Amino acid sequence: MPAKKGFNLLRASAPTISVGILSADLMNLGTQLALLEGTDLKAIHFDVMDGCSVPMMTVGPLFIKAVKTHLLKDVHLMIQDPMDKVGDYVDAGADMITVHLESCKDILPVLRELRTIENRNDLHRGLIRGVALNPDTPVEVLEPLLNEVELIVVLAVNPGVRGQAFIDSTRQKFAQVKEMVSAAKKEILLCIDGGVRRDNIAPIAKLGADILVSGSAIFAGENPVENLRFMLGELRSPGS
Ligand code: DX5
Ligand code: ZN
Repeated sequence: MPAKKGFNLLRASAPTISVGILSADLMNLGTQLALLEGTDLKAIHFDVMDGCSVPMMTVGPLFIKAVKTHLLKDVHLMIQDPMDKVGDYVDAGADMITVHLESCKDILPVLRELRTIENRNDLHRGLIRGVALNPDTPVEVLEPLLNEVELIVVLAVNPGVRGQAFIDSTRQKFAQVKEMVSAAKKEILLCIDGGVRRDNIAPIAKLGADILVSGSAIFAGENPVENLRFMLGELRSPGS
């Protein structure tokens, strides 16, 4: 039986938020992370951009390894041809590793490769394999992958930049993904990534995602903990 402590933790905490940690004040990351660790947060989201798959370049395995935390490391790879690189991110302590459908000709071998790799952080956590879809990528391409993923990430913004507006057609697309996964009777976590803020999280929550990624809205202003607590509150009881 594959180790599933990480998956079960997220399943039990759903709906929950994965915080986009690159939106933090990176000169003050340790302090901000310690504050967030004191809340009900379960995961932090690392947007890895290689400057090829998307124009922006952000961080790599070295940075991810350097971040010491008990929270789940949710690594979102926006990199070209991830096959030869995924192992480095697992070595860096990724608990969740998401690759983009659009990042190589055939993503299935990459997902199968990840099935053979154990979590380096904590064996019992297991490795959550995710596949992400850009806003323009049709949902149908997911079908052949449903046996090889524990997580599906629907991008609600075009990949590569934080602080963008939530693309409205994501609602319909997410409903299609949810329908496909339930029809296939698969145990897969569903995530929406991008454009989730204090003023739109309540209606987005109603779409039924297990995980919402939010970066700039959490670190907007002076108090990321208050932002997080407010958004978790809205997520769990919208408009209360
Ligand atoms: C976009 C990234 C998102 C983004 C989220 O390519 O995958 O994770 O950084 O940031 P906000 O919450 O600011 O949209
Ligand atoms: Zn992301």
